[in-house]
Amino acid sequence: MQAGYFSQNGSVLNFFTSEDFKVTQDELKKQVAQAALAYVKDVPIIGVGTGSTVNHFIDFLADIRHDIEGAVSSSIVSTERLKKIGIRVFELGETGDLDVYVDGADEVTPHKAMLKGGGGALTREKIVAAASKKFICIVDDSKTVDVLGKFPLPVEVIPMARSYVAREMVKLGGQPVWREGFVTDNHCDILDVHNLNILDPIALEKTINNIPGVVTVGLFAMRGADVVLIGQGDKVITR
Ligand code: 5RP
Repeated sequence: MQAGYFSQNGSVLNFFTSEDFKVTQDELKKQVAQAALAYVKDVPIIGVGTGSTVNHFIDFLADIRHDIEGAVSSSIVSTERLKKIGIRVFELGETGDLDVYVDGADEVTPHKAMLKGGGGALTREKIVAAASKKFICIVDDSKTVDVLGKFPLPVEVIPMARSYVAREMVKLGGQPVWREGFVTDNHCDILDVHNLNILDPIALEKTINNIPGVVTVGLFAMRGADVVLIGQGDKVITR
């Protein structure tokens, strides 16, 4: 349906359609990143994830940088962004456990299990998440799923184990693809495993974790999110 702006004498100034009012995915990411600020009030040191949604969150942290002591970062890229806006970045070893960790996800279920690692930062993300009391997951609504696995599952591997782990992934019913040319912050490789229908994410997380050569699997089910904020239309839904 077409609608339009009209001037006072009734002549058409500009036409628009309902398409013009669609909120973009990036706007949803920004919206949900802003909503996460409510969860870091009075939190001195914030755990910070990685990705385009978290980049918006970091940008919002600039406004409250004088109220916080700093952050623990899950990747080199987030560390650089935090430092650029004047936020001190601590090592996890210096801080001990954190109150809150804020991060995005590639997929999240109604049970708050997540598939992560699209940006390749899964290992440090899992470490900071494990050391945090509360995981606030921030996503746009394209990331919500009933069953994980449509997004290829990232698995970080020690380079010498890449082919072996790939064969093990085939045995589990997946189709592993080496993320060629990409090296993680830990100097390791990533296999993106396609076509897995992950009905029991906790069991699969344990199984893949136990394969020699696997550094981290991008399933965050044993330690899922505590709160999921979903950007949808002009609202943020809290799960
Ligand atoms: C990085 C991640 C990200 O959280 C995930 O890929 C979502 O990214 P984005 O916010 O860019 O959609 O796990 O390793």
